[in-house]
Amino acid sequence: MRFASGNVAAADAKSIAEARDLLRSGELVAFPTETVYGLGADASSDSAVARIFAVKQRPRFNPLIVHVSGIEAAERLVCFDARGRHLARRFWPGPLTLVMPRREDSRLSLLVSAGLDTVAVRAPDHAVAQALLNACGRPVAAPSANVSGRISPTTAAHVAADLDQRVALILDGGPCRVGVESTVLDLSGDAPVLLRPGGIPIEELREIVGPLAAPEGGVLRSPGMLRRHYAPSRPLRLNAREVGPEEALLGYGPGSGPAALNLSPRGDLLEAAANLFAMLRELDRAAGVTGIAVAPIPESGLGVAINDRLRRAAAPADEPLDWNDERGPAGPCVLPTLDPGD
Ligand code: TXA
Ligand code: MG
Repeated sequence: MRFASGNVAAADAKSIAEARDLLRSGELVAFPTETVYGLGADASSDSAVARIFAVKQRPRFNPLIVHVSGIEAAERLVCFDARGRHLARRFWPGPLTLVMPRREDSRLSLLVSAGLDTVAVRAPDHAVAQALLNACGRPVAAPSANVSGRISPTTAAHVAADLDQRVALILDGGPCRVGVESTVLDLSGDAPVLLRPGGIPIEELREIVGPLAAPEGGVLRSPGMLRRHYAPSRPLRLNAREVGPEEALLGYGPGSGPAALNLSPRGDLLEAAANLFAMLRELDRAAGVTGIAVAPIPESGLGVAINDRLRRAAAPADEPLDWNDERGPAGPCVLPTLDPGD
């Protein structure tokens, strides 16, 4: 297929069908939503989701928003309660993202929720996004379609300027109507927590769910919330060059020898990122093992995010794991969501 300019194509039936095929084959597609342009990947594919982090050059595996056409599709991924249903009926499709417990049978990539047992879902209110989601028939993970740390794109030209050839196709659906990201509300605990202000005013949410626990400049996370951050229960030893008698080795690259599991025998960081959470879980369950030793991972490309995640997972169990605190696990405890996403 040829495009008018680079990888940008006006969104029409033909380009949407092309986008569907690309997503289904694990490629990335940028598409318009009412808030900002999203960088989409098949949310059930570990390797497609890993590619998002690579293309955005994200230094962290932050959890991503999973886009669906509506409540029915979302019910297959997460466990709704009455509050969630009420909010989704009132505001979807629209700029409201709801964080809810992940269903065991969701078949979503573990990387999409960065190993958490919750998933953020939203139904975008944009004809092109809806057409793409319906055509694709799969949930689509999508952060904003910009390189990490840059401004979120609200036109196809912004996306092209940032990502250009690194994305298979950019669907042009004109400028975004809302222009700021969705409001993110965490419904996985007893009290709804506002994780990110956005396209839906807080007042409108309060009318339905009552007072929100709104983090202002950083709120201490209650210990009860920590359980939602997945870390192996077994001790994790990093940069391991040899393996102890009761340790399982999580290898990387061809030089790892007889590892219990290898993140990427050929030394491909994208493959390693795609395997990370699933392999950590597997070794945490493996019989006859008391600890997990992880081979050195190069500190470049996706290796930075992999090492960041591993360092957090290796932190003592009573230390909070915080995804967005630049100072690392020893820093103060801040709600993960104070990061507006990038
Ligand atoms: O408007 C939007 O929301 C755009 C468009 C493309 O839909 N997407 C977007 O995604 O802004 P992203 O990845 O840049 O922002 C995701 C936000 C982050 O603040 C992240 O921490 C939070 O959602 N988030 C995602 N999953 C979460 C989870 N399971 N628990 C807590 N926070 C989560
Ligand atoms: Mg963003």
